[in-house]
Amino acid sequence: MKFFADTAEIDAIRELAATGLLDGVTTNPSLIHKSGRDFMEVTKEICGLTDGPVSAEVVALDHESMMREAEVLRKIADNVCIKVPLTIDGLKTCKALTGDGTMVNVTLCFSANQALLAAKAGATFISPFVGRHDDNGFDGMDLIRDIRLIYDNYAFETEILVASVRHAGHVLESARIGADVATMPPGVILSLANHVLTDKGIEGFLADWEKTGQSIV
Ligand code: G3P
Repeated sequence: MKFFADTAEIDAIRELAATGLLDGVTTNPSLIHKSGRDFMEVTKEICGLTDGPVSAEVVALDHESMMREAEVLRKIADNVCIKVPLTIDGLKTCKALTGDGTMVNVTLCFSANQALLAAKAGATFISPFVGRHDDNGFDGMDLIRDIRLIYDNYAFETEILVASVRHAGHVLESARIGADVATMPPGVILSLANHVLTDKGIEGFLADWEKTGQSIV
């Protein structure tokens, strides 16, 4: 299972890249706004920090304008993945871009039928938003289960990129279901290493080691 960082914060991405656990990055207009950085500049910088896909989102709503924006974005770096919204124009753009080898992430997916359309449009990634689904009284993980079933039924190669991940429980359930990728805030990725018994164990081992009076180096 791949881990993408859902952020445009350079320092956090650099820190994660250094752990060897980072497989890519996703951004969106809200994250770019939060970073306070120039979109093109920060996207280029992020592309240099990982070899994996870096999602950069178009903001146009019609197909022709999306294609124009995608043209600019895909020149940033070879690992740019164009993010388009799950609308008919977005799907049309997805089909056109993937047709000539560009990676496309279809975002803002809230139903399994939408995910089916994205796969038919040749999407590289489909981004179902589990957290926002939960916020609205649905079970986000049921959506991931349905998409996995449908994609497996037809051997679609579109990767399920679980988005709007809010906590470790979302990651665990995504892994159980067999989602391909989870994109999450850097803090959630780092939190996966936490366990109170790990901390307690280290404390105990170190206390006993000190009593031996030895050192390794
Ligand atoms: O990048 C899209 C998605 O992950 C957004 O998450 O927390 O704003 O619902 P969130």
